[in-house]
Amino acid sequence: MQISIRLGSTLPWSNATTSPFHPFHQSPPPPPPSLSQSGRMSTTFKVMCVNKDDRGGSSNQMIISITGATGFIGQRLVRKLLSENHQVRVLTRSRSKAQTFFPANNFPGILIAEESEWNDCIRGSNGVVNLAGMPISTRWSSEVKKEIKQSRVGVTSKVVELINNCEDDARPRVLVSATAIGYYGTSETQVFDEQSPSGNDYLAEVCREWEANALKVNKDVRVALIRIGVVLGKEGGALAQMIPLFQMFAGGPLGTGNQWFSWIHLDDLVNLIYEALLNPSYRGVINGTAPNPIRLKEMCEQLGHVMGRPSWLPVPEFALKAVLGEGATIVLNGQRVLPIRAKELGFSFRFPYVKDALKAILSAETPSRS
Ligand SMILES: NC(=O)c1ccc[n+]([C@@H]2O[C@H](COP(=O)([O-])OP(=O)(O)OC[C@H]3O[C@@H](n4cnc5c(N)ncnc54)[C@H](OP(=O)(O)O)[C@@H]3O)[C@@H](O)[C@H]2O)c1
Repeated sequence: MQISIRLGSTLPWSNATTSPFHPFHQSPPPPPPSLSQSGRMSTTFKVMCVNKDDRGGSSNQMIISITGATGFIGQRLVRKLLSENHQVRVLTRSRSKAQTFFPANNFPGILIAEESEWNDCIRGSNGVVNLAGMPISTRWSSEVKKEIKQSRVGVTSKVVELINNCEDDARPRVLVSATAIGYYGTSETQVFDEQSPSGNDYLAEVCREWEANALKVNKDVRVALIRIGVVLGKEGGALAQMIPLFQMFAGGPLGTGNQWFSWIHLDDLVNLIYEALLNPSYRGVINGTAPNPIRLKEMCEQLGHVMGRPSWLPVPEFALKAVLGEGATIVLNGQRVLPIRAKELGFSFRFPYVKDALKAILSAETPSRS
């Protein structure tokens, strides 16, 4: 059910959004004072009401603020949260851009906030998901490298500062912050898990700083750092850029093809983030990769197979570099990363094998924006 609430009316925010059994807050979270979906000053905005959650118990409805919500992973996460009747606050650099992804008529419960309004959104959220970062699949000039790092470290620091500045009873209880398997560096022979040391290349350095800033959050806030692998989905990420190459070329392995490719299906990653929001056992570093990483030649074979293309002609490295820039290094020099923590936590992967993941992705319809 969806209703409009007039602030200051007899129906307070707390009645509409939290149940007495709410797992995150002792006292109800305050509403952001001045935001509406349009971002204009307003005393009216919409909230979703649910009585029961899908775990059969009392309401677990959450209010989640998300940076990078307009991105490839973020958009799917927003849909997942809304489908489970949670409330979403989109923390963006550009309201008008966010509104194209989340038009008010199709996403009526969503609140969109630009940076000056993030504080009001974070205050009173139950959790924050931090996904912001400039894409890395570009040419890496020294300015771009600086921006790749700064966009992640800067947004993370800002979010952490805002969380830390909240009054205790309005502070989010959980921060799920993205990082990447680039943390481990690359290797054709080593196997990496959450205990492995960091690598010594540029991306490893970015990930270390990114994570270190997330860990500066108030000690009462549970932090889950998701070291994300290569996310497979139709609408974005490396696969969306690889598919046209496979259509243009015959679609064989890149280079020797012996590099490791630690992938994860977008839905599994979104479910992992979702679990991390809900489940207090999810804390610390958790690799966001499928349990069966493969070598790049196998990935290419499977992709060629699913696309009905032979895979014995190699896609030239230059072609991949042309579309991914130095970001192609992620695909060209991989790492074998295992999701040990996710397995210990009992996380169930819907797509443990790449063949099934690719089949599902390539046969799926692209969700429309509206
Ligand atoms: N996709 C993958 O395979 C993968 C793998 C490993 C790690 N990750 C990490 O997971 C996070 C989400 O990935 P994604 O694929 O969803 O990313 P994405 O599609 O590129 O979206 C990231 C979002 O970050 C914000 N952003 C972009 N440039 C920015 C900048 N210069 N400064 C501040 N914010 C900026 C944008 O949101 P607004 O415009 O709304 O502000 C954008 O929608 C990223 O941090 C990424 O590094 C992704």
